[in-house]
Amino acid sequence: MTGPLAGHVRASKVSGQYGVVPGAPAEQADPCTMVIFGATGDLTKRKLFPALYQLAAEHLLHPNFAVLAVGREPAETDDTFRERIRLALVDSDEVKHFNDDVWKRLAARTFYAGGDASDASAYELIKRRLVEIEESRAETERNRFFYLAVPPSVFEPIVRHLSSSGLVPKHDNPKERPWARVVVEKPFGHSLDTAKSLNALVLSMFAEHQVYRIDHYLGKETVQNVLVFRFANTIFEPLWNRSHISHVQITAAEEVGVEARGRYYEEAGVVRDMFQNHLLQLLALTAMEPPSSMTANAVRDEKVKVLKSIRWLTPESIPSSTVRAQYAPGTIRSRAVTGYRAEPDVAEDSHTPTFAAARFYVDNWRWQGVPFYVRSGKRLGKRVSEIAVQFHAPPHLMFGGGEGHAPLQANTLVMRVQPNEGISLSFEVKVPGAAVAMTQHVEVAPVEMDFTYAEAFGETAAPAYETLLLDVMIGEMTLFLRSDEVEAAWKIIDPLLCFWEEHTPNPMATYAAGSWGPDEADQLIAADGAAWRTP
Ligand code: BG6
Repeated sequence: MTGPLAGHVRASKVSGQYGVVPGAPAEQADPCTMVIFGATGDLTKRKLFPALYQLAAEHLLHPNFAVLAVGREPAETDDTFRERIRLALVDSDEVKHFNDDVWKRLAARTFYAGGDASDASAYELIKRRLVEIEESRAETERNRFFYLAVPPSVFEPIVRHLSSSGLVPKHDNPKERPWARVVVEKPFGHSLDTAKSLNALVLSMFAEHQVYRIDHYLGKETVQNVLVFRFANTIFEPLWNRSHISHVQITAAEEVGVEARGRYYEEAGVVRDMFQNHLLQLLALTAMEPPSSMTANAVRDEKVKVLKSIRWLTPESIPSSTVRAQYAPGTIRSRAVTGYRAEPDVAEDSHTPTFAAARFYVDNWRWQGVPFYVRSGKRLGKRVSEIAVQFHAPPHLMFGGGEGHAPLQANTLVMRVQPNEGISLSFEVKVPGAAVAMTQHVEVAPVEMDFTYAEAFGETAAPAYETLLLDVMIGEMTLFLRSDEVEAAWKIIDPLLCFWEEHTPNPMATYAAGSWGPDEADQLIAADGAAWRTP
């Protein structure tokens, strides 16, 4: 790789502009304390600490950065908690080379407080510990962010206590110091109504610029790259519309089942879990107009416009535009796996979908009539997330076709979110060899032009949480959801959820674990003369 990006190892949005952070950057983030609620939970161990560790390894944390982990384990101490995290880091797939010196630096800045954050009495201890931890910092440097890595049922009491305890005062001015921010994990609400009341509550206590609603897909390098790819190049944008694009396929397929999350998943299902947030975000980034700048609000304004232009699903359109199904027993990587109904904490007669596919339309000038097919499921054939933009077929075929010849394939541009992050463009070429003059046939075959992050930059993308945590520390909100964006997404999803809840399928459609979903999903797209890609 040559050119201005050569040698740079990770991208992050610093100082309001997409920039690159060179090899060994100076400390970047503000001094601050991260308070994690839900410290003994899975997210803290699997995502948050690996991300903090990577930031520490890359010297992106301020030397005065600290973590106060708040958990419900009363017997835990600073030392036992540190040891628990150390073991998790050593085991983590997200930490490539565990280095004891990096860990020691982070461990020395990691503290633990036992308590139930949904109970007001926990906050005295939290405050006391914060005073100890931050005593060497000037008062204006006692910046804090509170990370709610907890089940949605306790968001509300925690938000109330953060406000009433004075830990997060409302700041109308984003420049006020020290700053206080609140980071909320998904799901943000369970429906449009619950999301609205949660927004109303949060915004009665804090200003919008203090609230960071996470959708971790936005932290993925390749998802951020959709905007750069579209708007930092001039050759694709003129084609990016209904005149040239026949349809778009967005896939988020997982090999894993629901694992130990049966209780949560029974309530959520694939539409709340993946469509309301990750998949609609991918759709919005693919379909949005160029923002006037890369500021958080300019980008989010354009995404909201797309979400508001998505044609509403109605009781009349839902049966022919959507499909739901559950995984049945099957085989994943030569291993037999059970069906969804046999998973722990899942009802034997559950109707919760683990797979869904839908056809959406974006009703505006650019996209009128272009279907956006969106699908996601657990226990599918392969872990892959991608956005595939399929261009129109040539209007007149002089080549190919005819007996014994594969039909020509339309050009497809695939943005691979994961794994093997990159972009490929397929096009048709002439197969070498003399044309058979007698039959007037020129052999034509599809080939691919392929870019992979790993080849171009020598390493795989930074984990999403690393980017997102750094963004919270530097006050960069582009990759977080604004309140109107969350509500606009629920408005699309709510009619579908209501319809499905009222119309229980009998029997529920199923697909074998390890397959690419139910036949009904193939029929949905085949009705328009298209077919799903098998990535
Ligand atoms: C989460 C969902 O938001 O995203 C999970 O709750 C899902 O069910 C996960 O497995 C997928 O994320 P990733 O980064 O592994 O594609």
